[in-house]
Amino acid sequence: EGQKMWGGRFNAKPDQIMQAINVSIEVDKRLWAQDIAGSRAHAAMLSQQGIISSEDAQQIDTGLATIAEEIQSGVFPFRAEYEDIHMNVEARLRELIGATAGRLHTARSRNDQVATDFRLWVRAQVDQTIVQLTDLQQALLERAEEYADALMPGFTHLQPAQPVTFGHHLMAYVEMFSRDTSRFADARVRMNENPLGSAALAGSPFNIDRFATSAALGFDRPMGNSLDGVSARDFALESLSHASICAGHLSRLAEEIVIWTTPQFGFVKLSDAFSTGSSIMPQKRNPDAAELVRAKTGRITGALVALTTVMKGLPLAYSKDMQEDKPPVFEAFDSLDLALAAMTGMVRDLTANTARMKAAASGGFSTATDLADWLVRNLNMPFRDAHHVTGAAVKLAESRDIDLAQLSLNDLQKLEAGITDDVYKVLTPEASCASRQSYGGTAPDQVRLQIERHKQRLS
Ligand code: ARG
Repeated sequence: EGQKMWGGRFNAKPDQIMQAINVSIEVDKRLWAQDIAGSRAHAAMLSQQGIISSEDAQQIDTGLATIAEEIQSGVFPFRAEYEDIHMNVEARLRELIGATAGRLHTARSRNDQVATDFRLWVRAQVDQTIVQLTDLQQALLERAEEYADALMPGFTHLQPAQPVTFGHHLMAYVEMFSRDTSRFADARVRMNENPLGSAALAGSPFNIDRFATSAALGFDRPMGNSLDGVSARDFALESLSHASICAGHLSRLAEEIVIWTTPQFGFVKLSDAFSTGSSIMPQKRNPDAAELVRAKTGRITGALVALTTVMKGLPLAYSKDMQEDKPPVFEAFDSLDLALAAMTGMVRDLTANTARMKAAASGGFSTATDLADWLVRNLNMPFRDAHHVTGAAVKLAESRDIDLAQLSLNDLQKLEAGITDDVYKVLTPEASCASRQSYGGTAPDQVRLQIERHKQRLS
């Protein structure tokens, strides 16, 4: 041995630098299970079609099963001289069953082999990400139910805007993560076509049955063009796009947790299990997990940019550039898995300081819109005029350092004579929230309706 699998037409061995830039086994060994599954499906099909004998197919299959066990138990010899996972498996198969191993690669190329392995890997990963997204949504739903009535300030520009409930705020993220889930599910549908049988680029002269390998590997159908079969990586790009959008959602929630857990806000407390201390400042309780979730977005979006750039301008069909598809995808999904798990843990354990949140909900003249709406409804005032009167009321309250509800009826009537005692009913944050009964609004009844809808979707 020691001879390259493709060494027939060469006199000299590759330079060390050549080997160093070419080798990918440390990365693509993660495709081992997919590689073996693809090879077993291919060998079975070759024998069914009479392209190899059933005895040879049986030997190959047994050998591949042994290799799977060796890898699983950690005794498989991964060797850099065999470049990648495909040739490592094949070389080991030859050691185990002899020359028959060489029949496995009939009607196949590493080009369709790697395209198949990678698709299978991304497909399994997307399935797993969907499970993790479901866990996260469940954790959010639990907290939303717990805090369906808990008042907090709603913000725009991170300035107090109108009171909302914490439950309503958390449910906004359930909406985002449910769309992320459906994006991944969508990507899976498009990705689920089989490249195997595209061979090197042009298809195969052997009488292969691509529908059989498709069925065996859980693909819906074979890909319809062999050039595309070996060259397409948009399934990976699409999954990375969705991962990047999802990471963006995670980073927004992470950022809010960072803000909410500051002593200045004091809205939320993370559990000890999801907080860290400082080695010098004994009082510190840091939201490191939230910050790292926020940061993982950089890696994940970076991976999308990396692979988009690798694929740009590549002529058909296969080019070795495409070996660089795996590191960004592996890194992005490793990061996303961890970020989803950490966020789920943080959300599951967090407690809200409802008294502080409620106090903050009353501040910042958060019911000013309710005053303006009262003027419109009760005095038939045009909204723009009502806005102006309310602005004057805010100015007055601010100059006295009091809330809107603390202005006397006399003060209010000086601004607008028609105002009555009834107005105070709308100036509390409870009343403000409860009044927002429009579909999807923050009224606790409406929020509970949405919680139910999402619970049913997830069950
Ligand atoms: N390790 C290679 C990759 O990941 C496998 C395909 C190699 N094909 C080739 N023609 N050199 O892309």
